[in-house]
Amino acid sequence: MACAKACFAAGVFAVALMASANTSAQKVEYNYLLHCGGCHIEDGSGLPPHVPDLRVEMPYFASFTEGRAYIARVPGVVQAPLNTEELTDVLNLLLSRFAPEGLNLQPYSVEEVAQYQQEVLVDPKKLRDQLMAHRPAVSDNTVNIDLDN
Ligand code: HEC
Repeated sequence: MACAKACFAAGVFAVALMASANTSAQKVEYNYLLHCGGCHIEDGSGLPPHVPDLRVEMPYFASFTEGRAYIARVPGVVQAPLNTEELTDVLNLLLSRFAPEGLNLQPYSVEEVAQYQQEVLVDPKKLRDQLMAHRPAVSDNTVNIDLDN
């Protein structure tokens, strides 16, 4: 009998936790669709070369500091009407979805995103080209990503 009450309470607690996890995951997904999906498309495929396909190079950029800063500072991210926590959740959703298995990318912390966003990215395309040009050297030092896969 003692258990009946306690176990019931534990069950209610677990269900409440699941419900809130579910709701916040849906909210992150919703934020992506609403604030990013118009350009990057629901599945991240975008409209290359104008709007990059997030499934392709984003995991590479996320594997080193300058690339992580670039991602967090592109105009579409900085100008989204989302707070830093919401932006962090959207970026981490994309990383978890698009990083190749075994890459073990570090998720963004709210502090990291806040720090990058203190500087405005003046010329995203130029910086992107520079980061891509350095790609082999950088990826040797950090992780190897085979883009052809
Ligand atoms: C108005 C269209 C538009 C919106 C909205 C938009 N983006 Fe972008 N995004 C772009 C373009 C264009 C680029 C290429 C860099 C540039 O010119 O700004 C880009 C670049 C990026 C990149 C770098 C990828 C790479 O391979 O270079 C990431 C990551 C990204 N966007 C994520 C987001 C997220 C997350 C959101 C929503 C919070 C978002 N974008 C909203 C158009 C958009």
